[in-house]
Amino acid sequence: MTMTTDTRLRSIKSLVGDIGLEGHRLLSINDLTNEQIYGLFELARLLEPWNRSRIDLCPSSVMATLFFQPSTRTRMSFETAMHRLGGSVLTETTPLISSSSAKEESLGDMITCVSKYANVIVLRHFDEAEALAAAGRAGAPVINGGMGHWEHPTQALLDLYTLWRTYDRIQGLNVCIASADLVEARTGHSMAYGLARLGANVTCASPKDRRIPEAVLSDIHDATGVELEQVFDCDQDSFNELIRGMDLVYLPGCSAPKGPDAEAFKVVMDRYFVRYETIAQAQTDGGHTIHVTHTLPRRSGEMDDRLDATPSQLYFEAIGYSVSIRMALVASIVGV
Ligand code: CP
Repeated sequence: MTMTTDTRLRSIKSLVGDIGLEGHRLLSINDLTNEQIYGLFELARLLEPWNRSRIDLCPSSVMATLFFQPSTRTRMSFETAMHRLGGSVLTETTPLISSSSAKEESLGDMITCVSKYANVIVLRHFDEAEALAAAGRAGAPVINGGMGHWEHPTQALLDLYTLWRTYDRIQGLNVCIASADLVEARTGHSMAYGLARLGANVTCASPKDRRIPEAVLSDIHDATGVELEQVFDCDQDSFNELIRGMDLVYLPGCSAPKGPDAEAFKVVMDRYFVRYETIAQAQTDGGHTIHVTHTLPRRSGEMDDRLDATPSQLYFEAIGYSVSIRMALVASIVGV
């Protein structure tokens, strides 16, 4: 049965109320209950028809995007989401050059002032301790757009939403989070929390000395009773064997070092290379689709680019879904 626009609008407004996030900040994926995550998924699905048009749910709201690190997707999809909701955007992409941060203003003072203009602030910052302290002082709700090496909760939310839209469930899916460095993989940390809490079977593959932080594992254990599976120090063959049984290979990327360590790091990265042949063979042998997503930006050497043109590719699909889920999140936080 197709929904009329009026019915859909009534459902949207009622869901925003039920989700109960108005005025709340989002610093960690763990700030959301499982019910709120599923509520946001339902809301995002209702909002998908406006992914490329406009629904004036938040016409008097202003979003400030303060990005102390480079970004293409996170900033632009948040800004697109706010424009689609009929609101306005203030953007600062080079705060260390063009804002009073260049005159040594503290982040806390900056956020306190921006809170007087904006109804919601999306903050990306290289130092999670400084960002969290500033968010604690803010008069407006702060959304973490990527903080240090800690978490990037809305990237996890959009990847979870993409998975849910692909399979209609998360529970019971087999997911491998893989990187040459899971210590600094903030998207990997948020995604591990989200997947484990929603009942996926998670395996983390990384070098032993760059494994996912103990704090993330113990938080997951405390919340779910589950010990995440960990596989260390694969070579390329054993890694590709590992992913043959997965529903999703999740690549949070990593910051490749420059200078003298660059070549050695490339050797380690190469061990986690997702081969086209592995994915194609699983499809041919048993009709099993191993989906692959990368949080992007990707570097050459992380996966075979021929995967772009296969049904396994979820990374560009996720970009489309990111607008709807961020619309859902922003509308829930600023209210409609
Ligand atoms: N995935 C992600 O955070 O991309 P950007 O760095 O381009 O925002």
